[in-house]
Amino acid sequence: MQFDPSAMPWQEGYQLMTGAIVPRPIAFVSTMSESGVLNLAAFSFFTAASANPLAVAFTPMRRQDGTRKDTYMNIMATRQFVVNVVTDAIVAPMNETSPEFAPDVDEFAVSGLTPSPSVRVKPPLVKESPISLECELLQSVDIGEGPGSASLVVGKVVYIHVRDDLLDGLRIDTASLRPVARLAGHLYTKVDADTIFELVRKR
Ligand SMILES: Cc1cc2nc3c(=O)[nH]c(=O)nc-3n(C[C@H](O)[C@H](O)[C@H](O)COP(=O)(O)O)c2cc1C
Repeated sequence: MQFDPSAMPWQEGYQLMTGAIVPRPIAFVSTMSESGVLNLAAFSFFTAASANPLAVAFTPMRRQDGTRKDTYMNIMATRQFVVNVVTDAIVAPMNETSPEFAPDVDEFAVSGLTPSPSVRVKPPLVKESPISLECELLQSVDIGEGPGSASLVVGKVVYIHVRDDLLDGLRIDTASLRPVARLAGHLYTKVDADTIFELVRKR
């Protein structure tokens, strides 16, 4: 089968793309509104973006009604956010944050996850997440307009938290981290010792 995205409703292109680009790591993003309301939301359109400066990128899309998500609005207002890594221990509370709550709803309270003070930015870390990246907004690039369009949010990583037991020098033990990644629809996958293999890069 072949498909022409320009001849399809955007929702169908989304379905094909999210089935094709798998597994996707999940940025569990904490932000704070200008008035101090905490916000927590998951984003699987997420990647590392640069090593120098150290940077990450994720894309909050517009909702079906064309409005912007709270995460995006908070970052544009405060220029700060934290990316927390999702592990199998916190995937259930992560899912509790996914409904479209009103901007005055604190998803830390909804999910039962614990806000813990950051060092360089105002939004708190998710205490239960073993890795958190404190970020300052570098750039936001609009991709289209209207429902389903997105903004690529690029953040400079200004402080890094890694749980001590995961570290051997600067090497993070992936099997112990047990990260969760998103597949298509409601499906997820886990990384553990059985699914990891080594392939030494040729020079
Ligand atoms: C695992 C997972 C991944 C998600 N990835 C994205 C994404 O990449 N972009 C997006 O706009 N929404 C994504 N969502 C939906 C948002 O998390 C959801 O719209 C959330 O309510 C936005 O919250 P906010 O308005 O507080 O920012 C994802 C949801 C889940 C559960």
